[in-house]
Amino acid sequence: MLDGKKILYSGMQATGTLTLGNYLGALKNWVNMSEEYECLYGVMDLHSLTLRQEPAEFRKNARSLYALYVAAGLDPEKNCIYYQSHVSAHAELGWLLNCFPYMGELQRMTQYKDKAAKHAENINAGLFTYPVLMAADILLYQTDVVPVGVDQKQHLEITRDIAQRFNGIFGEVFTVPEAYIGKIGAKIMSLQEPERKMSKSDENANATIYLLDDRDTIIRKFKRAVTDSESVICYREDKPGISNLMDIYGAVTGRSKEEIEREFEGQGYGSFKLAVGETVADELEPLQKRYAELIADKSYIDRVIKANDEKAAYYAGKTLRKAQKKLGLTERIR
Ligand code: TYM
Repeated sequence: MLDGKKILYSGMQATGTLTLGNYLGALKNWVNMSEEYECLYGVMDLHSLTLRQEPAEFRKNARSLYALYVAAGLDPEKNCIYYQSHVSAHAELGWLLNCFPYMGELQRMTQYKDKAAKHAENINAGLFTYPVLMAADILLYQTDVVPVGVDQKQHLEITRDIAQRFNGIFGEVFTVPEAYIGKIGAKIMSLQEPERKMSKSDENANATIYLLDDRDTIIRKFKRAVTDSESVICYREDKPGISNLMDIYGAVTGRSKEEIEREFEGQGYGSFKLAVGETVADELEPLQKRYAELIADKSYIDRVIKANDEKAAYYAGKTLRKAQKKLGLTERIR
């Protein structure tokens, strides 16, 4: 607990441009929760290295991610928004924690299995130990709650297992965190193959809404969204396309499934898709404007990065030293 408030921690990989899935599954909840908690958000650039990055583009993407967090409404003067790679305690605790989970536990991680299948030519050790670095991120800050989309649930479970295993052997060092998964929007699906998760790296550009897509592009992508051959707007397992559009509309407007069904009763898919497209475009417009201003304001972004990197390093250092001491590593002579 920091300043009497519970601690919230989360982050995103600094790869590519954020999608509507990242926004509705995570970022929007972060903004809604930010008053209630003491919040830290990382630009997870170390995690991004598990896939090969083009250095100049990678640097640009990390900066863009930082600006998107702020543009979405996270105040960097109140929330600690920093770069993971600027706080060396992440890599250090990551190593210590590597000695806790078993190979079999990491092998069961579905994200590892998916990524290994997709990148068979580069199944590096970092991909395998990815969840351990994520555990280090979270545990360094004595985190109470981690708002994420459904796909990160398993990583949160292994984080809890690692914390409990460590605490069980060496005494209470880490707070055992809880995942926070929103009721709607926790798993936004592809607009082209609604059985699959919306993802940054989809080869079909029409499948994904990017946060910086312009209004016309957003509306066009929704108009082309794959649905079914009926024409009733209702939430059903055998209607993944329409159900996904309802999830998106509900997550943006705060309306329930029943309210949405009533709102569009008797209307066809065409008008529903248009309404979803316009609503999403309206939601993203202020974020895009703010983003354009921020990315142009180099000195402001530099200043907040520097201040927050230092703040994060201070808190992380405290937990790291505690873990090192408990493990029996010899303290440095000061
Ligand atoms: P990443 O970068 O893949 O995703 C960032 C956040 O967006 C959510 N998300 C989605 N939510 C709903 N629908 C989707 N289609 C969708 N796609 C992505 C993710 O669940 C996530 O919350 N391992 C993490 C990054 C990370 C992290 C951490 C998170 C590293 N260290 C510590 C929390 C705490 C990841 O790959 O997220």
